[in-house]
Parts: sequence; C-alpha cells; structure tokens
Amino acid sequence: MPQIFKQHLEQLKENGLYRSLRVIHGEQGPWVELEGKPVLNLSSNNYLGMASHPRLKEASARATHSYGCGSGASRLICGTLELHEALEKRLAKFMKTEAALVFNSGYAANVGIISSVVGKGDVVFSDEYNHASIVDGCRLSRAEVVIFPHNDMAALEEKISSSLQQNSNNRRLIVVDGIFSVDGDLAPLPELVRLADTYDGLLMVDEAHGTGTVGPEGRGALAHFSVEGKVDIIMGTLGKALGGFGAFAAGSRELIDYLINTSRSLIFSTALPPSVLGSTLAALDVLEQNPSLVAKVQENADYMRERLKALGYDVLSSHTPILPVMVGEAALSTEFSRLLLKEGVLAVALRPPTVSEGTSRIRVTVMATHTREDLAFSADVFEKVGKRLGIIP
Ligand SMILES: Cc1ncc(COP(=O)(O)O)c(C=O)c1O
Repeated sequence: MPQIFKQHLEQLKENGLYRSLRVIHGEQGPWVELEGKPVLNLSSNNYLGMASHPRLKEASARATHSYGCGSGASRLICGTLELHEALEKRLAKFMKTEAALVFNSGYAANVGIISSVVGKGDVVFSDEYNHASIVDGCRLSRAEVVIFPHNDMAALEEKISSSLQQNSNNRRLIVVDGIFSVDGDLAPLPELVRLADTYDGLLMVDEAHGTGTVGPEGRGALAHFSVEGKVDIIMGTLGKALGGFGAFAAGSRELIDYLINTSRSLIFSTALPPSVLGSTLAALDVLEQNPSLVAKVQENADYMRERLKALGYDVLSSHTPILPVMVGEAALSTEFSRLLLKEGVLAVALRPPTVSEGTSRIRVTVMATHTREDLAFSADVFEKVGKRLGIIP
C-alpha cells in the first residue's frame, strides 16, 4: 500500500507540481529569515504588517493573561467569551451591518456559511475563480453548482435565467470573492447586486483580501463600490490584513441567528482562543487610527505594478496588492521562484490545481511595511531572473 503514496509523489515531481513546507524563523515581516538567510517577503497576506505590530502583540498577551489560552468549548456549549461578543459587535460596526459572527478560519466560514444557506434543490452560482474554500462549501451544500466565467455578468445572467426556467421554487445564491485571491482583481459588485435583486437571489461576497486593502479606511470591496447594505452575506478573514487568525460572517441579525443555529463548522468546533480575539480588536483600532497604512499598501502596489509592467511582465488587470506575474508552465514557474529565492526574494509559484493548466504564475503581494528600497531591489531581481529564463526580453 505505501507504494501508492510514493507513486503519486513521484508523478507530482515529474510534472513540476510537488509541494513542500518552508519554515520561517522569527516574525512575519517585510523581510523574513529562511534557511538562515534574510529574504524579502513578497508572499504574505499580512498586507498592513499587523501580524507583528507591537499593539497587537500586547493586546494578545493581555487577553491571554486575563482569559487564558483556550476557549474551552464550542460557541454553543460554553466557549462564547465576552471577547467574542465584543469582537462581533466591533466587526458589525466596521462592516456597517446589524450583526457579525466569528468563525475559526476563512475556510471554515465559507464551508459553514454556504452549506447552511443552500442545500439540495437550491442553486449556487459561483465564479470560476472563486477560492477553494468557496468551491468546497458549494460541494458540501449538495446544491446544484453553476460555475460562471470569471467576472462575466452577461454569462451569469443567462445562466440564472435559464436555471429559473427549469425551477423557480429553489433558493438562489450568487457567491464571489470581492477581490480574487490569485488574480487580484475586483468582482463587479454593483452589477452583482443588480442581478441578485432582479432574480430574487442571495448575494455572498468574500472580503478575505478586501478588508484593509481597498475602500475608504480599508473597509473592503463593498465600501470601494459603495454597495454596503446591499449584500446579503459578507464573509471576511482575520488572518490577512488584520494580522491574526479566524474569520467572520456579517449581515442581518436574522442571518447571524440562522448561522448560529445551522452552520456546522461553527457549531461543532472549539471557539477561537482569547489571544486572537484580543489582537483582532487591537487591529481594528490600529486600522481606524491609521488610514495611512491602507494608502501606503496601495501606493506600494502601484509602484510594484508599474515596475513589473515596464519590465515586460503580464500582471493581468489587478488593482490591489495582489500582483500575478504570469509565467505559463508549472515547471518554469517553480524554477522562476527558486531563482528569485536564490537572489533573496521570496515569491511563491502558483501552479495547478490552484490555477488552471498553462496559467502558472508567481503571486506577488506587497505590504504597507515594504520600503521603496525593498521594492526597487525586488524589481531588479525580477529583471535579472526573468531575462535569464527568457520570460521577459
Ligand atoms: C478568498 C479567500 N477566501 C477564504 C480564504 C480562507 O481563509 P483562511 O486562510 O482564514 O482559512 C482565503 C485564504 O487563503 C482566501 O484567499
């Protein structure tokens, strides 16, 4: 039997798709220590540098000191602490919704929300580039899943109306990443709101990469498009720009009560511990008091985007701190990433199954805490390595 694992792993290696874990020493910052060497970190979702912010560290330690290390039970048993309640009130205020509910990770939130909102006999319309956790939530729900071409609103409308002709009595859910995690572009939210209204469907938006990076005061993609209050279900994460771990749902009081009663990933899992609840409350304070952090990450992204484009790279149509540097073949993207690292730049390759065949790329993410010198250095490395591999002229 162990032969099956070996064969599978060898196959992955042959196709340039083998993955292994890298160990980072010390804090997650603009530079990290990898194999005893400092490297520039262009792979983190710690967009605002919050993961190692002194105020978050202090708040996390204080919460542990006052409330202990663990929550002791799931939310509905006896694991709901005052800190959960405080954070949920705070998140609802930040997202401008009636209520919010903390989940244990973005993955758990997407799987738990989607599978409780739709089920057998319902239809979920999902963008082809949605995150894997949305894909898995759709599968788990047992609803019919209709995939629509990326950001193609005409195709989505056609698919909704043809589905309606077959069955008009089911629940319809449209679900999208607000900012797509691998391409870094935005979903056309005003049009999605219109379609959800027109066809009496629910709209769910994943703000995992929107919070802290786009919109006034970093309030996300909904705020960017001024559609706050018009989206039925918002999902957000605490482990990216907010520098901690976990996630949340935000929406009406009824939605949150419904999720408390039906969402299995919430009901059957130990609640988040005090340390991350405390640090996230501090992250929201830091974000509200320092809107310049959001401006800085956007400015850094603009600079890096222009430098990469000027070198001849295709970075698609990203308008966010996520910059896809298109390569094509999986093996070439792995080699690109390896050579970048050798030159002191950590920028990982995304390959199938994360992206589709022939669209492997280096996913660059910039942070507010990168300096101009850091980014200029990385652009020089991208020039040297890209030319050597023949990816740019
Ligand atoms: C769009 C999107 N949704 C959900 C998730 C999952 O979030 P988490 O890492 O908190 O599980 C991610 C992160 O990887 C993501 O990029």
